[in-house]
Amino acid sequence: MEFQKAKKPLRGEIRIPGDKSISHRAVMFGALSLGTTEVTNFLQGADCLSTISCFQKMGVEIENTPERILIHGKGLHGLSAPNSVLDCGNSGTTTRLISGILSGQTFESDLTGDTSIQSRPMGRIMTPLSRMGADITSLKGNHCAPLHINGRPLHGIHYNSPVASAQVKSCVLLAGLYADRPTSVTEPALSRNHTELMLNYFGANITSHDTTATVEPNPSLIGSQIHVPGDISSSAYFIAAALMVPGSEVLLLNVGINPTRDGMLRVCQAMGADIELRNVSTSGGEPVADLLVRYTPSLKGTTIEGALIPTLIDEIPILAVLASTANGTTVIRNAEELKVKESNRLDVMVNGLTAMGVSIEGTDDGMIIHGGQELKGAVIDSMLDHRIAMSFAIASLAASSPTQILRAECVNISYPQFYRDLAKLQK
Ligand code: S3P
Repeated sequence: MEFQKAKKPLRGEIRIPGDKSISHRAVMFGALSLGTTEVTNFLQGADCLSTISCFQKMGVEIENTPERILIHGKGLHGLSAPNSVLDCGNSGTTTRLISGILSGQTFESDLTGDTSIQSRPMGRIMTPLSRMGADITSLKGNHCAPLHINGRPLHGIHYNSPVASAQVKSCVLLAGLYADRPTSVTEPALSRNHTELMLNYFGANITSHDTTATVEPNPSLIGSQIHVPGDISSSAYFIAAALMVPGSEVLLLNVGINPTRDGMLRVCQAMGADIELRNVSTSGGEPVADLLVRYTPSLKGTTIEGALIPTLIDEIPILAVLASTANGTTVIRNAEELKVKESNRLDVMVNGLTAMGVSIEGTDDGMIIHGGQELKGAVIDSMLDHRIAMSFAIASLAASSPTQILRAECVNISYPQFYRDLAKLQK
């Protein structure tokens, strides 16, 4: 797919599709609750559809219409054994969170996914789950999917996670619902807390102190209504585009601004960006706002590190693009987790931006970007990673010659109408 330098400013307002993390959790926790859960603004992306199909295979009736999805919950102990392999597609969230749930069932199950999922580390969940007494095996013996899980009674543990990962934390907390005593997880920095917020909203008892979350086992979960906020990770592309393209002014409606997810906004502020939050409110326990973003001519480089990293982990590729157009140097540290995402996002971003003429160095845990030079067009392979495709589509708006993105259609994972929305803002 070919992309050109922006001929016009980006203008207008846009409703960003539902948050991917929250959409996954609404299906999972609705399935484990009694009664019906109604979800509006659900993200109809391939990852969340994988979650729906896994739960349908375990006997959960889910009605999916464009207006809303209805999940007819089975209760904590009501799932039934799937009669075929659970296919998690490209979704790490599906694979890791479901593994926690499956570990405490009374049946056996197998799960797998696409080539990318089959190379992503599952040892990080197998270790704590095994300590809880789970019987989980990597069928190829490489700590990756395909996984076989033989559900059994679990023990509550305290787990000191070596990584700040909401997928690991959520996996252990979900297994903790089936344990014989409370389970807690401490992480090195706080990762997104949607599991804690939504499970409590459905009637669980999860307490959080600093970076430790503790779950009481065996709650009665009751289905509820969830209006999914717009995904700040999807908004990030239009935030960057509006900041970069002269004359732009874009209003992004109803975006989730949970403090465990809003690091991109804080970084943009440090770079001097003109972003205004309007209509701040709460929806289903999650803070939301409209974001008014205006072109900002002299953004400056910054440092992105430490506890900020988990709050913008999926936004680092687009932040690297933004930093390339800013004045001065941006340093990104402590971001080694990017190596084990849908692609090795550190390498792919450094190589792609280098091809576009950016002066950028990869480091062991991040990158150093010397911004301010004009970008030039290049041929970029998305590596089938949705966030890579979207980041380079935005980079091309600032490039002097056309950019070709290979396998660009992978945006369907998290934002199927991304290219249409981008075109709409350029009309
Ligand atoms: C997610 C957590 C993050 C994030 C992913 C979604 C979630 O992954 O990158 O896109 O929904 O819990 P990690 O927990 O592996 O950092």
